[in-house]
Amino acid sequence: MSTVPRYDHGSRVPGWDRPADLDKDPAGIPDPATTEVPDSLRQEIEAHMANYPESRSATLPALAAAQRVHGWCSPEALEQVACVMGVTPAYLESVASFYDMLETTPVARHSVYVCTNISCSLRGADALYEAIRQAAEDGAGGGSDINVRSFECLGACDIAPMASVDGVYVGPLTESDVPRLLEDVRAGRPVLAEKQLARRRVADPRANTREFPPHPIEREREGD
Ligand code: FES
Repeated sequence: MSTVPRYDHGSRVPGWDRPADLDKDPAGIPDPATTEVPDSLRQEIEAHMANYPESRSATLPALAAAQRVHGWCSPEALEQVACVMGVTPAYLESVASFYDMLETTPVARHSVYVCTNISCSLRGADALYEAIRQAAEDGAGGGSDINVRSFECLGACDIAPMASVDGVYVGPLTESDVPRLLEDVRAGRPVLAEKQLARRRVADPRANTREFPPHPIEREREGD
């Protein structure tokens, strides 16, 4: 049986023990006159800041927005967020390096987080993770276009074993789903549309997205 790899510090997630660089000069708040920030990113960060009485409360959505633009929380991304928020890049790095879904090193544009916590693990997540990781590697032609990693509980244990694919929850997954999951990611299609959490029937059908065609049972109910 395969085992989920662990980092040297014993955790299945990276980065918790990275020391601070004590030789680095402390950076101040970036000067808005000399720091270029894409207009759309600036507007999004400002909109998040406007949601809170204390603008620092917008740090996480602001960093997430910058990560979507830059692919990761690069020094340039941190500089731009720091400029708009009026904080130092060091403050932002302290936040980004704590939160697991903020990437502080370059990663592939697509991400597949396979939950390997207890509920998913009991339903075969370790083997599923290994199958996805291996298939992604085999299909990448020597490159790495998809960041496949194991993850602690993603909070969707009722669809175990499950994965978050570019933020979209899918499950319950079997190893037979793996080829299409990767094909859908690479083709830019909705991933395993019929297995998306957002498409599952719930008591209030309006609670779920209509981004994809309605479920057949919903169509029947609506008399299509
Ligand atoms: S254990 Fe996998 S979603 Fe909770």
